[in-house]
Amino acid sequence: MTKGLQITAASKYYNEGLNRITALDRVSIKVEPGEFVAVVGPSGSGKSTFLSIAGALLKASEGEIILKGKDISKLSSNELSDMRLHEIGFIMQASNLVPYLNVLDQLLVVKRMSGKVRASDKTTAIRLLEELGLGDKLKGYPEELSGGEKQRTAIARALINDPAVILADEPTASLDTKRAHEVVALIAHEVRTRGKAAIMVTHDERLLTYCDKIYRMEDGKLSLAELESIH
Ligand SMILES: Nc1ncnc2c1ncn2[C@@H]1O[C@H](COP(=O)(O)OP(=O)(O)O)[C@@H](O)[C@H]1O
Ligand SMILES: [Mg+2]
Repeated sequence: MTKGLQITAASKYYNEGLNRITALDRVSIKVEPGEFVAVVGPSGSGKSTFLSIAGALLKASEGEIILKGKDISKLSSNELSDMRLHEIGFIMQASNLVPYLNVLDQLLVVKRMSGKVRASDKTTAIRLLEELGLGDKLKGYPEELSGGEKQRTAIARALINDPAVILADEPTASLDTKRAHEVVALIAHEVRTRGKAAIMVTHDERLLTYCDKIYRMEDGKLSLAELESIH
């Protein structure tokens, strides 16, 4: 039993009229704490569906998802929301920061909504942002940030609750090559030093060198790939 993420024979079907689309076909994967895994594959192959199921945003039609030793299909909806909030950090494309919140508040907004921002939360957020090179941007708004800074803010936001699992869907999609490398190197560093189980979906094969394992998604099927076989 891993303290990270273990998915066994997960399938996802969508019903479209009389047709049944198999978006995920008996996908199995195990990601240990400190491990950084990449998933590559063509558009429409099921990568986002897979990440949504791994992050408990979407329910699998079949199969088992074990997160930190817990079968998420057995959790109540309260326990599931709690799990999503505390054990899963999502990093999406740069655009999903809240436009009217400054960098520090991007990290504190969820705590603020639940009405309890402690002084220690603020200290933790500031320390994390400093570590990610954003110490002088705490009061900056998304429109004032570069693409790389936005993505580093998104990484900090994914890490703030110290989740067991990090899921990144095309985190470098809007970045130039240099920034893309910086961002993925940073994710890799945080994953390893903080012992996160991490999965990154990417189209950019040059970024695979930062990952420990590479999987390929094709027609909803996931298989382990060799770095040399990725062209
Ligand atoms: N909500 C949905 N309803 C019906 N079909 C969907 C839905 N979401 C995704 N699909 C289909 O599932 C397949 C996988 O989609 P997706 O996971 O988004 O792939 P990727 O992220 O690799 O591009 C595609 O054929 C897509 O059209
Ligand atoms: Mg996708």
